Amino acid sequence: MSPQAPPVLSVRNLETWYGPVSAIKGVNIDLHEGRIVTVLGANGAGKSTLLNTIAGVINPFKGSVEFRGRPIQGLDADVVALDGLVLVPEGRQVFPFLTVRENLMMGSFARATPEGLEDDLARIYGWFPQLKGREQQHGGLLSGGEQQMLAIGRALMARPSVLLLDEPSLGLSPLLTREIFAIVRRINAELRTSILVVEQNAAIALATADDGYIMELGRIVAAGTCAELMVKDDVKEFYLGGAGGAPRADGRKQRWKRRKTWR
Ligand SMILES: Nc1ncnc2c1ncn2[C@@H]1O[C@H](COP(=O)(O)OP(=O)(O)O)[C@@H](O)[C@H]1O
Ligand SMILES: [Mg+2]
Repeated sequence: MSPQAPPVLSVRNLETWYGPVSAIKGVNIDLHEGRIVTVLGANGAGKSTLLNTIAGVINPFKGSVEFRGRPIQGLDADVVALDGLVLVPEGRQVFPFLTVRENLMMGSFARATPEGLEDDLARIYGWFPQLKGREQQHGGLLSGGEQQMLAIGRALMARPSVLLLDEPSLGLSPLLTREIFAIVRRINAELRTSILVVEQNAAIALATADDGYIMELGRIVAAGTCAELMVKDDVKEFYLGGAGGAPRADGRKQRWKRRKTWR
């Protein structure tokens, strides 16, 4: 990737409201081809609103989303997905009464061509052998971690060029979280899929992504490479669970108690 190449996904001055409530405001994000970018934020920061607005699930009040140089804000999610921008929503949302295989096949409706379908299925089962073993079981019977794998696998069946991941670690053990993020890395490395992942789990997200943004109360308050963000005092204190940077044993994020100035 040359640094001069335009970003594959570019969000400018994005603003989304729920009725009278402003959820995100003035948000600018760039995702370059082949990169992994994370947006970190506490519960309610606006992470899901951001991804849902980018993916066309909700319409912005203002601002633009450019995907491969084309404005897509206001387009429907299915149209955007056909173009190769695919969301893995918060809470997985697998179809509980469809089998694992049928869930994966649902993702293939958003692909341009049916060619290579079986190869793609085999590749996904290679990444997630747990799914292969449960191919004929209902999605609703899977564990949380397996459902996350299924949701990611379903998105990959659409052959996305950009994958949007909404809190893949939600409700998962630290071990499973690491497993999921290792696969995220592999997908990025092996398929060159560009990935935008929003997370509360700053430690794993910063260790996985190339670049990051910090979101608070609907606004971006800090940005940089993950290496830069990891050593910022505020990030260490408020997102990595103390000056030592060690995540809390129970996996919960420490919440700040005072208003702070980002530096
Ligand atoms: N459907 C909705 N209706 C009204 N307010 C909402 C809705 N969804 C989210 N919000 C509000 O928007 C803000 C951002 O929420 P969200 O994007 O879900 O944050 P996050 O994903 O970071 O937890 C919060 O204040 C939340 O209460
Ligand atoms: Mg959310």
